[in-house]
Amino acid sequence: MASASHTEMIASVTDQAVAEVDAAQNEAQLDLVRVRYLGRKGLLTAKLKSIGDLPEAKRREFGAAVNAAKSLLTARIESQLLTLQRVSRASALASESVDVTLPGRRNDRGGVHPVTRTVRRINEIFHSIGFDVAEGPEVEDDFHNFGALNIPLDHPARAMHDTFYVDDDHVLRTHTSPVQIRYMKSHKPPFQLIAPGRVYRCDSDVTHTPMFHQVEGLVVGTDVSFADLKGVLTYVAQEFFETDLPLRFRPSYFPFTEPSAEVDIGCIFCEGEGCRICQRTGWIEILGCGMVHPEVFRHVGIDNEAYTGYAFGMGIERVTMLRYGVDDLRLFFNNELTFLSQFR
Ligand code: FA5
Ligand code: MG
Repeated sequence: MASASHTEMIASVTDQAVAEVDAAQNEAQLDLVRVRYLGRKGLLTAKLKSIGDLPEAKRREFGAAVNAAKSLLTARIESQLLTLQRVSRASALASESVDVTLPGRRNDRGGVHPVTRTVRRINEIFHSIGFDVAEGPEVEDDFHNFGALNIPLDHPARAMHDTFYVDDDHVLRTHTSPVQIRYMKSHKPPFQLIAPGRVYRCDSDVTHTPMFHQVEGLVVGTDVSFADLKGVLTYVAQEFFETDLPLRFRPSYFPFTEPSAEVDIGCIFCEGEGCRICQRTGWIEILGCGMVHPEVFRHVGIDNEAYTGYAFGMGIERVTMLRYGVDDLRLFFNNELTFLSQFR
């Protein structure tokens, strides 16, 4: 009887173990079942150890039954392991599969903004003829943007600039000319420099945007004349446009230069006939310039008997539109890729 109950017990443990093997959902669970029954302290292993408690005659039969149960369970675990591995492999393949019919990911190549390209080109041209580069703040005080440039508070020239005010004493600089003042206050002549940067005016049409760029130029020395100004600007325009566009110096007025002029380039859109973009004049203004006013030298403490100088302020977007044939200046700042990608 004793042996029958032992064998029955082994059969029921084995049944239980097989059920757990079949229920294992993954390799980790299966391994737990293996350890629980076949490990060193496992249930079947423990049975085998209890063989010593049996009478001599029963031991052989009992040992054989336990070993048969162990090999049955081992085989069952191995086949379940193969099944689980197949299932997990299939699901990995399904979830990691690549749909080769999907469109590929494009790598779009960016480009330098046309305005930045122009600034770099102009910097290079002036660098090649010995000009330094200076910078100044975009939020400027009244003194640097106006007062020191001989534009006192009640001066009508203030109306020429549609100014964005920051507070009573500060503006978004309306031109790069305040950099002239900052540079002259902190350097001793002779010097020749350019100062490229953003400027702001409450202005918008085909040739005006509320934010645009200028390149200021300033040359001060003991023997600087209007002829030097004309020569340098004509040279730079030829280098920049790489063609012989008509260029004219037209007498003008700025409170900080005397005499003053504006430079126009023949309109490339109508070739001088007169159109919407050049406001029917055949010319597009690109810069203002002139000989530094003695009053400006007085404000920055430069001896206006010993020194003379010239200055200019060029509109970067204007020369860019003329070089690339862009007929609306506002396009530069709409951030439309169809427009910008033409300049890659
Ligand atoms: C000035 O700003 C003077 N500071 C230039 C100057 C410097 C004169 C040094 C003498 C000595 P003006 O307002 O004309 O001048 O502007 C200069 C150039 O900036 C114009 O010729 C034009 O090319 C460009 N510009 C002016 N307003 C705009 C605008 N709203 N959008 C785009 N470009 C502009
Ligand atoms: Mg002007």
